[in-house]
Parts: sequence; structure tokens; C-alpha cells
Amino acid sequence: KARVAVLISGRGSNMAALVYAAKRADCPFEIVLVASNDPEAEGLKFAAAEGLQTYAHSHKGMKRAEFDHLIDVALREAGADYVALAGYMRLLSPAFVEGWAGRMLNIHPSLLPKYKGLDTHERALAAGDQVAGCSVHVVTAELDDGPVLGQTEVAIIPGDTPDTLAARILIAEHQLYARVLADFVSRGTDRDRLEIG
Ligand code: GAR
Repeated sequence: KARVAVLISGRGSNMAALVYAAKRADCPFEIVLVASNDPEAEGLKFAAAEGLQTYAHSHKGMKRAEFDHLIDVALREAGADYVALAGYMRLLSPAFVEGWAGRMLNIHPSLLPKYKGLDTHERALAAGDQVAGCSVHVVTAELDDGPVLGQTEVAIIPGDTPDTLAARILIAEHQLYARVLADFVSRGTDRDRLEIG
């Protein structure tokens, strides 16, 4: 099975969805590490209770490249083949991105290329969109910009607030991420195919 490390910063519900997906006998990946830039991240408790290896180190007071190097060492010590960002709210240094090129995915709560960055749900509602959603993409140097591997559309309902919309999209995220990650690791890494140079 492909060895996947998951990076989180908070609640970790997408990470949990990947952990549960990995329990299926026919799942092509296993979770070998859950790592966080916040030692207090709620998701770390879940991961530990599931018997998974965890790594946590605060980024505070560290240079971005130095911190990313710490994470990189943890990932490589865990023998990770792939990295899944799941609510990991840190910009990544170029060296880190390059080191995992074609092997690192992210889930983002919008229909990319719309609404890169933060406050996606607020922006979709403010724009009067009737459809929102989520995307899983390959991570490249530009924020939320790599090749999109899969998306799920989610209807916006009259009266939606950013919170109600986020909650509905989150359900779709949990399904999408596990499915896209499984497909991705099954196909193997091919940087040419991904057009990431
Ligand atoms: C998810 O909605 C994820 O798409 C989003 O943060 C949430 C994390 O929830 N990610 C981003 O906004 C990345 N820029 P979780 O910790 O419960 O998975």
C-alpha cells in the first residue's frame, strides 16, 4: 500500500475521513503519520486514539524554511510516499514543495480556480453563486494552483450562511478526498502527466 502522511492544523475531519477510508481492505493507501504545526490541534487526539503515529511542532518563532525542514524530516522518517494536506493552514516553502512535487495533494473548499486562499464560502455567497464545492489538487509553488484532480459541486441553498455552506461542503470533502487520493496513488507518480515540470 502507498504510505501517506497527513498534515493538519486543526479539527482534522478530512484527515479522519482518510483514516477511515484506509481501514477498508481494498484501500490502496495507509496513513503512516499525522503531523501538525499546532501541538494543540484537535485532530491529533483522534489520530493518537486511532493508534497512528503523530508528530507536532509549533511553527512559532521559526523561519518557514526551517520549520518545513523539520516536517520534511518527520515525513521521511515515517517513510511517507505521499503527503495529503488536510486543513493545513501554512504556506509552504519552495524547497518543501519541490521535495514532494507530484506526491503532495491538498483539499480546498471551493471550485478551483475560483476562490483561492481564505474565506471561500463568504466569497461564494457574496458573489451570488448558486453552486459551490470543493477541489482536490496537486500542490505546486503557487497557492491553491496545481492541477485539479477532482471536484464535487454543492448546491447553495437560499438562506445559507458561510457556516451552513461550509458544513455541507465538508461532507462532500470527506468523500472526495478519499476517492481522489485512492485514484492518485493507484496511478503512481508521473510528473509529466501532471504538467508540473
Ligand atoms: C476544510 O474545509 C478544508 O477544505 C479547509 O479547511 C477545512 C479543514 O477542516 N482547507 C483550507 O481552507 C485550505 N486553504 P478539517 O480540519 O476538519 O479537515
